[in-house]
Amino acid sequence: REDLMFTYKGIPYPTTLCSYEVFKAMESFEARSDDMILAGFPKSGTNWFGHILLELITTFEKKTEVEPTIYGEEFDEFPYLEVGDTEKYQRMKKIPFRRVIRTHLMSQNLPKSVFTNKAKILLLLRNPKDLATSFFKFSKVMAPFPTYDSWDEFFKDFMTGNIPWGSYFTYLSEWNKHADDEHVMPITFEEVKENPLLGVKKIAKFFELPLTEEELKGVAERSSFQAMKNNSKETHGVFGNVLFRKGGVSDWKSLFSEEQNQEMDKIFEECLAQTKLGAKIKY
Ligand code: PPS
Repeated sequence: REDLMFTYKGIPYPTTLCSYEVFKAMESFEARSDDMILAGFPKSGTNWFGHILLELITTFEKKTEVEPTIYGEEFDEFPYLEVGDTEKYQRMKKIPFRRVIRTHLMSQNLPKSVFTNKAKILLLLRNPKDLATSFFKFSKVMAPFPTYDSWDEFFKDFMTGNIPWGSYFTYLSEWNKHADDEHVMPITFEEVKENPLLGVKKIAKFFELPLTEEELKGVAERSSFQAMKNNSKETHGVFGNVLFRKGGVSDWKSLFSEEQNQEMDKIFEECLAQTKLGAKIKY
């Protein structure tokens, strides 16, 4: 399991996706105020919100007849800031504007210019119990991630942060330092699941993409779990089935023991419940 991860600035990352060299090269990345950053821990709904954002942008651009910004070679690559090759930051410089950037990084490990240049950040939050459940199921089938024979074993590593991208609890407390930044908007998986249209409207407003009610409804429909799952072979190939697993809330109840449930509640109560971000997370 250790061979599958390496540590950078105290956080474990999967060796097949990240490298020391790419982290070093990332220091040359200069964020811009019109960058659209989608920040979320693995399994918090990155693909879902990424799709909503791309749908909003393409609908907006079609309507305003501006040159499409999000197509082309630059976006054919795996679009996570910290995943790729050392040349990717040079290629990103060539994108004229409205760069859509995904990242699983904790705030303190992002290039400083993200905050100084006030790139817009949509911060995805998900109930840690469902997130852990989704992570475990994904680890079982996703080759580059350490795999686990049992849920109990995974739960221990999740609680100590010995998983790719580290501890979700540390992630939340670090990002909490930016909860009041005007260019950061937190949004929860659960609120958008409950009311997709309202969620889509909130995102469109934050990124200043004015669309009509009809257009926003269309974006919400095309971003539903079922629509994305049906399309997943095309968009994600063989990973489609793994990635679009259940897309719901409360699946954790099928895995957690009563002790594990209490253990997570305790750490959440102690470190996060009183914080701004913690208060937004729906249990
Ligand atoms: S990854 O591997 O980190 O990029 O995974 P990520 O995309 O962040 O999260 C995967 C979970 O998001 C669910 N999902 C959705 N839920 C609701 N609606 C839509 N449209 C949607 N698309 C993806 C996906 O099913 C994973 O959650 P689980 O609980 O495993 O089903």
